[in-house]
Formats: sequence, C-alpha cells, structure tokens
Amino acid sequence: MIQSSSVSAPDQAGAVDGFEASTARLFDPVKLRSLTLKNRIVMPAMTRTMAPNGVPGVDNAAYYKRRAAGGVGLIITEGTWVPHPAAANEADVPKMYGEASLTGWRGVVEAVHAEATPIFAQLWHVGQMKQHTVEGLYVPKGTDYVPPRRVGPSGLFGGIGKPTTRDGEPATQADIDSIVDAFGKAAANAKSVGFDGVELHAAHGYLFDQFFWPGTNHRTDQYGGSMRNRIRLAVDAIGEIRRQTGPDFPISMRISQWKVQDFKARLFETPADMEEFMGPLVDAGVDIFHLSQRRFWETEFGTDRNLAGWARKISGKPAITVGSIGMTGEHIDTLMGQPSNVAGIGVLLEMLDRGDFDLVAIGRGLLVDPDWPKKVRAGRIDALSAWNPDVLKSLS
Ligand SMILES: Cc1cc2nc3c(=O)[nH]c(=O)nc-3n(C[C@H](O)[C@H](O)[C@H](O)COP(=O)(O)O)c2cc1C
Repeated sequence: MIQSSSVSAPDQAGAVDGFEASTARLFDPVKLRSLTLKNRIVMPAMTRTMAPNGVPGVDNAAYYKRRAAGGVGLIITEGTWVPHPAAANEADVPKMYGEASLTGWRGVVEAVHAEATPIFAQLWHVGQMKQHTVEGLYVPKGTDYVPPRRVGPSGLFGGIGKPTTRDGEPATQADIDSIVDAFGKAAANAKSVGFDGVELHAAHGYLFDQFFWPGTNHRTDQYGGSMRNRIRLAVDAIGEIRRQTGPDFPISMRISQWKVQDFKARLFETPADMEEFMGPLVDAGVDIFHLSQRRFWETEFGTDRNLAGWARKISGKPAITVGSIGMTGEHIDTLMGQPSNVAGIGVLLEMLDRGDFDLVAIGRGLLVDPDWPKKVRAGRIDALSAWNPDVLKSLS
C-alpha cells in the first residue's frame, strides 16, 4: 500500500527498511528518443557556484565524471546561464555561452562520456528572482556596478519566506523575444559541445514559473490570464530549442508546484489544469517532464499518485520523480542546516514498479555518495552516507 501525503516520510524510523525490497527495476534500461539510459537513476541539477567567471574547469569535469563512474544512468548539469543580460543572479554559476565556457563544457561532456554516461545541460534564467549578484558576491565591493534590469512577467518578486511585492518592471515584447532567442542559442551551444539533451528549468519560482503562476503574473496581454497565455513564453522557448537542435535532441522540462518564495504555491489544482498545461508543451517539443517535489511521497489530487505519476499519465511522456529519495530530511531544510539521514526507498520502488514514473532523481544522495547507484545495486545500504553539509564546500 503506497503511503499518502499525510505520512511524514516513508520508513523514517526504520531508516533502511525499504532497501530490502527488490531494486531490479531501478536498473532496467530506458529509452529517451534515440538515447538509451542504462538505468533509471538521474543526477538532477545542483548549483555548485564553483565555475569561476562562469567557466567550468577540470574540477567540474572530475566532479561529474565521479558520479558517472558511480553508475548513474543520466546526469543533468547544475543550472547554466543562457545568453541574456538578466539571466544570472549568482556568482560562479557556469554559462552556456562564450568560447571559454563552451570549451570547459566540452571537457565535462568528454569526461562523462568516457564513463559511457549521457549528460544533459540545465538551462536557467532567474527572471525577477532577487539578485545575489549584490556587492561582495558577484561584484567586487565598492565598484560602481549597476545591476541589470530584472525581467519578470509583472515586475513582481518574492524572496524566501517573504511576500511577493513589486520590485522591477514587466518584461517588454522585446525582452520576451530576446529570452526565447537566448534559450534557443544556449541549447544549440549545448548540442555543439556534445551534450545529449537539455533541460529547461521552469520550476521553483524562476523566470518561466513566474509566468506560470498567477501570484507573480498579473499581465493582461497574451502572456497573462489563461493557462495557455501563462505558458506561452515556455512554449515559445521549447519551440525555439526544438527548431535550433533538430527533431531527435531530447528536451526535458522541470516544473514544480512549490516556489522558493512560497512552498505552498500551486500551479495545478486538478488533473485538468495539468492537461491544459502539458498539451501545448508536448506539441512544442518536450520529451520528458521532471517533476520537482520537496518530498516525492506527497501525492496529488486526492489520489495515490505523485506529481510525476500524474505528469506521465496525462502527457504520455517519460517522467522523472525527485525529492528526498533515500533521505529523511528535505533539501531546503538541509541547506539551512538541518540534518538528514539515510531513509528507505521501499515506497519509491513500489511506485516505480507500478509504472507511475520512469526515472528517479537522487540529489543530495549523489553529492555525499557518488557511488550511490553502485552501492544500492550491490545492497550495500550500510555504506550509504547521511547528509553532510561539508560536501557543499568543495567539488569532490
Ligand atoms: C546544493 C543544491 C543545489 C541545487 N541547484 C539546483 C539547480 O541548479 N536547478 C534545479 O532545478 N534544482 C536545484 N536543486 C534541487 C535539486 O535538483 C533536487 O530537486 C533537490 O535537491 C531534491 O532532491 P534530493 O532530496 O534528492 O536532494 C539544488 C539542490 C541542492 C541540494
């Protein structure tokens, strides 16, 4: 019996009980367009802010190669900036443009491919999200740096735990056109250096999600109001990526109900809302939906399916689930200093066996344990590590 959202965490107390269930299905191959993954374990995007000036180097390549050697079926890179002046808000996040960054990425891709593992690039624009490019971080203290215009649907911004307020300007049509173009260019750049696919970061309250969510989108033009209007920017960006990368290049799209500025926010109240959302995106070229949940076992719409389960059912496309798999604590809590121990994955395996979703993303588990897939396959549960915040201090 699959647990419902009223349950706080699967196997919390028993810690590793779930690993006794068969993990065979996790290690089944799966096809994504012409790409075959050797198993169903995905490393999701995790920003490391360790690419000086936006250029990934040998350390970044070694970091991804280590996870590939540990047995993941697919790596999705940390978020990478698209070539648009308002995309960035964080220091030392890698870019998906410019000769130096692309040369760096080629090195990363080659290192990962040497382990017979495919790699997608996550493409990111923060939109109205507050700039961390404040002095002292991105910009040397005391410079007369003027931050770029914030571009969002309505000039509305919310910060973690803070209400959404007016801060900035609504994007003009010229802004919107240049954003669409930037995503197409970034995807073409990724393809040119050997990436096997891309993922559009349309989750967590960043640019695309700001357009999706009525909390931040108060527009009355063709980009606001109805669901079809609120997804128009994403549909156009996906279309442009497809146009620039050709018919066989896998495109994943990451979405979430929650936003970093509002954990309780929701895009979908009913399966019909999801249907309205997904149809045009599939038509535009999305191949895979990546459903970001803070806790994968939380189910939707009064059923025993989680968001990935619903995405798969509605879109007919492969779906990735994620969120505290094999971990007792949730990722934002742990980034804020809370502990997290190894948890069972019995409930996950049950949902996977039932065919709810196709792929399973392990975030923090792969940061602390690059060999997570190998260890799980070998039943070496005792060897898995609890969350350790020190892993965020270096690229090991
Ligand atoms: C350090 C860190 C950085 C993250 N950066 C990103 C990111 O760049 N893009 C993104 O879509 N999600 C990002 N996430 C969210 C993860 O992809 C994942 O959804 C989250 O950690 C939940 O999975 P987990 O419980 O297995 O860790 C990040 C998470 C962590 C811990």
